[in-house]
Amino acid sequence: MRVAVFNGVNLDMIGRRDPQLYGGVTIMQLESKIYGWAKELDLIADCRHTNSEGLYVAWCHDALDWAGGVVLNPGAWTHYSYAIHDAVELFQVPVVEVHLSNIDDREEWRRVSVIAHLASERVIGKGPDGYREALEYLSRQR
Ligand code: DQA
Repeated sequence: MRVAVFNGVNLDMIGRRDPQLYGGVTIMQLESKIYGWAKELDLIADCRHTNSEGLYVAWCHDALDWAGGVVLNPGAWTHYSYAIHDAVELFQVPVVEVHLSNIDDREEWRRVSVIAHLASERVIGKGPDGYREALEYLSRQR
């Protein structure tokens, strides 16, 4: 099963952001972990990162044609992007929302996720391992 793993705005900077919150890994290290975990679970991951909201939406549209499951961390877009909400709403396959940090235990504005109700599962505040949990969840849905 092919799984889309789309990381959004500022996730390319996680290696430079607060390691307590974001795990102290670079996006390349994170993606390489994800590819390894996917292989172990007999999944084919397609990891992508962009800082362009339009491209993120376009990738969601693209994934409608090939993804059997979706892992999304839209970064700060999570909290306000109705454009991403509307794109995510199109998925008919399980969607897992992942956040490295615990967005429910930070600033008030981070507690809002416009995609939360569209996600079959949410993995929050578990650092890079949260992506593994997301992949495990998707592999159980096959
Ligand atoms: C994040 C949480 C967001 O609030 C933040 O804007 C990010 C990363 C996370 O993975 O913890 O950029 O999505």
